[in-house]
Amino acid sequence: MDSGKQITFPLLMCVGTAVIGSLQFGYNTGVINAPQKIIEQFINDTWKERYNEEITKGSQTAIWSVAVAIFSVGGILGSFSVGLFVNRFGRKNSMLIVNVLAFIAAALMGFSKMAASWEMLIIGRFVVGLYSGLSTGFVPMYVGEVSPTALRGAMGTLHQLGIVVGILIAQVFGLDIIMGSEHLWPLLLSFTFLPAVIQCVLLPMCPESPRFLLINRNEENKAKTVLKKLRGCSDVSADMQEMKEESRQMMREKKVTIKELVTSPLYRQPLIVAIVLQLSQQLSGINAVFYYSTKIFETAGVEQPVYATIGAGVVNTAFTVVSLFIVERAGRRSLHMVGLLGMAGSAVLMTVAVALLDQVTWMSYLSIVAIFAFVAFFEIGPGPIPWFIVAELFSQGPRPSAIALAGLSNWTANFIVGMSFQYVQDICGPYVFIIFTVLLLLFFIFTYFKVPETKGRTFDEISAGFRRTAAMDVEKHSPEELNSLGADSQL
Ligand code: GLC
Repeated sequence: MDSGKQITFPLLMCVGTAVIGSLQFGYNTGVINAPQKIIEQFINDTWKERYNEEITKGSQTAIWSVAVAIFSVGGILGSFSVGLFVNRFGRKNSMLIVNVLAFIAAALMGFSKMAASWEMLIIGRFVVGLYSGLSTGFVPMYVGEVSPTALRGAMGTLHQLGIVVGILIAQVFGLDIIMGSEHLWPLLLSFTFLPAVIQCVLLPMCPESPRFLLINRNEENKAKTVLKKLRGCSDVSADMQEMKEESRQMMREKKVTIKELVTSPLYRQPLIVAIVLQLSQQLSGINAVFYYSTKIFETAGVEQPVYATIGAGVVNTAFTVVSLFIVERAGRRSLHMVGLLGMAGSAVLMTVAVALLDQVTWMSYLSIVAIFAFVAFFEIGPGPIPWFIVAELFSQGPRPSAIALAGLSNWTANFIVGMSFQYVQDICGPYVFIIFTVLLLLFFIFTYFKVPETKGRTFDEISAGFRRTAAMDVEKHSPEELNSLGADSQL
């Protein structure tokens, strides 16, 4: 399948347009950080105007925390709803439709100051969270389905690249000398409408996923035409053959609901792998750094913490690019393990640096190095891989439900770390990152024993591998149970 290695313009156009959704997720993850003090001031002023009294510290913190955290609540709901859209409207139209949410959110947040309403800000954050949750399902699904097998990892990593570029843009624009100022912050938040406009213009020019056309809609000719364009060659028989095989498999699988996915012994193994990989991404502690880096750098005695935070964003982006270039050669499994182990080492270094800060002055530099290394190792594997590997672990039938469950786990863990980190840090002091070290080592062991390599294997080969493992379990389950779920007779 030589044609499978070719990066064509139509393929890049599809992937590039889709990952605008990822950029939106990253932007809204990072945007609220820098202007915290100014937005808190807006909350104070509005309170005073409304109630003719000073706001209490408690109420202010509560309103601010809700505005921050409600984004992940939207994300949890959005990611779980992916299945409601993708089979009904198709992958491409689903991405197009949900831009409505980005526009609504931009308007709510952009006019919140003018309307003297922090409620609008909070609802806006929730709505853009919904959008982001849906995107973290749609984008990896579409990208995985349009990409040739040999490029699925590299293309899948572009989802993460979109996210990190979004975070970086938000960090830079959020500086008070740029847009994180008293007058401009509403514009900063509402900027999310711009990528939405661009995506609405470009998406109609992108084709629907050929897998969706063939397997879900049975439109063979259309699927073939799209594939020829994407692959840049006229002989797409190998791809068509593989998709038809998957289609036959799906006839047997029928539609797989979330409930069936959870209860079926056939999907147990890939589902556990998918969920634990999501948890390994979030419980690695990465967002403790991205949500609180400025504060962490401050504690570590760094003089210009805001710029150190931007430095972390730059390292984050650079190493995602590194991963992009090596993922197809090194494979998912090994990169994920290297990343987890490297993060664990960096977390220990960070702990030592912060603990010795009072005795040794240059420890603050060491802490910067440790945090940068932590972020770099994250992007080598645990950042990009969990997002795209779920689409690889499941065939067309269970894929939407699996992506919904994986997204739900990811966003829930993200929410938990975001909400609890500060409290845990108050209790553990400089030793807080030891918790993440232990978790990282556990995830490393899990990956070593349980995660299969998916590099260079077709979707069908990967799920056949899992069917075989499930079949080895066959004595533990009744034949009827396996039959009804589509385990083929060769097993
Ligand atoms: C991943 C995570 C996200 C995190 C980002 C940092 O995409 O899902 O929560 O903020 O990486 O680069």
